Amino acid sequence: MLGKLVFLAVIGVFLVDATCDTTKFVACQDKFADKLGIDRVYNWLNPLGLTLQIQDIYINGGVAAERGLNVVCNAYNSMVQCLSDASTTTFECFDIGYLLTHSSAPNQAYSYGFLMSMLQYQCGAGFYLASDNWQCMQRIYNGKNATMYGCITDFVLNAQEDPKRGCNYVQTGMDCFSKASTLQGCPDELKYYGCESFRQYSLPQFARCDKQCTIDTQYRGI
Ligand SMILES: *[C@@H]1O[C@H](CO)[C@@H](O)[C@H](O)[C@H]1NC(C)=O
Repeated sequence: MLGKLVFLAVIGVFLVDATCDTTKFVACQDKFADKLGIDRVYNWLNPLGLTLQIQDIYINGGVAAERGLNVVCNAYNSMVQCLSDASTTTFECFDIGYLLTHSSAPNQAYSYGFLMSMLQYQCGAGFYLASDNWQCMQRIYNGKNATMYGCITDFVLNAQEDPKRGCNYVQTGMDCFSKASTLQGCPDELKYYGCESFRQYSLPQFARCDKQCTIDTQYRGI
């Protein structure tokens, strides 16, 4: 006797709408640009342009010659504060799912999400590593500006064209940033900082790659 078994897989799908309020998000981005002292056109509609503006501030400092890292991180913290004041959940505005449905192109959504993820690291867990070595890091950004921007644009293009090989592109980008973050007389930990910055950049799309950056053995535990 053959019983006919019908398995009904009942999948409860919760269609949770991201709570990011687009109008408030745009207003907070304007605030971010104002704090950075850059034109408001450098927003989520122009994320690679914004990336370059931030690199430029890292190199040249703020309008009143403040340290670039402080200018960027103060502005980033203000934006995060602005988003939470707007009673939206901050990180839902940076969520790739939200960005993809509200941007005009996937490339734009990803490269904005990537940048915010990198800033979250550079202004969070990575802050003191760079801050304690800022003279070095600033010189690195200065000397390797085009190289580092190239690491980013290559990654964004390649990852969108061939996402199946995404994890390889993540590794290439990590190596690219790590290699760029070396300078004679500067600590090797900055290689880790460069690598980790890029790894964090890639996370919104490629967390599944599970890559790791390592600090050279000779520095471990010191
Ligand atoms: C950094 O490199 C980019 C890309 O090559 C270039 O457009 C930009 O002007 C450079 N910025 C600085 C401060 O040198």
